[in-house]
Amino acid sequence: MDAATQRRWGEQMLGLLAAGSTQMADREYVQPVADYIDPGHARRERDLLFRHTPLVVAASDELAKPGAFRTVDIDGVSAVIVRQDDGTLRAFHNVCRHRGCRVVDAEGGVARTFTCKFHSWVYGGDGALRHIPMVEAFNGIDRGQHGLVPLPVAERHGLVWLVLTAGAPLDLDAFLGPMGEILSELKIEQAGVFRFERFAEQLNWKLVVDTFLELYHVPHLHTKTVGRFIEGKGALYEQVGQHGRFVAPRKSLETALRDVPAEQRDVADHTVVIHRVFPNTIVVWQRDHVEFWTAVPDGDDPNRCIVRLWLLSPEKVVSDADRVRWEKNWDIVRGTVHAEDFPMARTIQEGFSSGAQDHVIFGRNEVGLHDFHRSLKDALAAA
Ligand code: FES
Ligand SMILES: [Fe+2]
Repeated sequence: MDAATQRRWGEQMLGLLAAGSTQMADREYVQPVADYIDPGHARRERDLLFRHTPLVVAASDELAKPGAFRTVDIDGVSAVIVRQDDGTLRAFHNVCRHRGCRVVDAEGGVARTFTCKFHSWVYGGDGALRHIPMVEAFNGIDRGQHGLVPLPVAERHGLVWLVLTAGAPLDLDAFLGPMGEILSELKIEQAGVFRFERFAEQLNWKLVVDTFLELYHVPHLHTKTVGRFIEGKGALYEQVGQHGRFVAPRKSLETALRDVPAEQRDVADHTVVIHRVFPNTIVVWQRDHVEFWTAVPDGDDPNRCIVRLWLLSPEKVVSDADRVRWEKNWDIVRGTVHAEDFPMARTIQEGFSSGAQDHVIFGRNEVGLHDFHRSLKDALAAA
């Protein structure tokens, strides 16, 4: 974070905290409940957003060595991403060209070839079809035309992005715009994945993103957990193209920095920065580490999603001495969300389906939610 940004954030957050306030939008935002429960809306999101937008699917660290691979299932598409010998990444539909079986079952590993379990057709890490048992039965096919079907993939700022449509364009720098520079400052490519978890939730995927975009709930829902460290006000939100950045003061900020000259304030040390990467990724920067979350629809049902969470440590390998601290970080991040945010969000999802109301209200103080939902609305309208 550069000095000018630190200075600006410090002044704005201290001003808001002194006033007992937080950044406000001009007016409240009325959000239709149907966007969370309507199967037709969910279908449009899947077709127009999830099938054609670059989605964060892995950390580069998980695919470090040549031959390292990772499979990912999103919205009915199974893909395998493989580190090539030349250091680039390639991704493929995880679908055998013989009769359509899933080729790779493991979530990750290192392999030189992939053998389909049905009739043992063998593919290289580059997707090429290498071997067909009883090949004389397939004289008429061109082996060069029957490799795994490539999917667009890109790697930037320590993260791996995939598009779930073969042949679709992928211009990641244009997609990220100024968010690329912001993500590059996090130095995720130098970090190691300490822990990864995938879990199924009874929520619309947007409720997972919503969880991270306002502080209003922190002193109410999280009294015994993160509410002890994070303020419930004094937050800033910046729209960054389709993406956004939410800046939350730690409780230590006001006391530590109030009497420090503006140019000497170490704002970063007293801040949590939550990056929203369109459409479905949250990258949380804390002073000593990064964690990131993704949420994707789980099949046709708008009431279900798959959540993935990566906790990164700044070192590629955590020493035994540091392991206890990282286990504790994992317990805090996972525990707060699992024990407090998601159980509450499940009741929201139920309430949405109950017919009680056709809209909810995002307050002027929930400006991050305004921006997230506006970005989705704009993208769906433009598609
Ligand atoms: S379906 Fe894969 S080898 Fe037959
Ligand atoms: Fe929360």
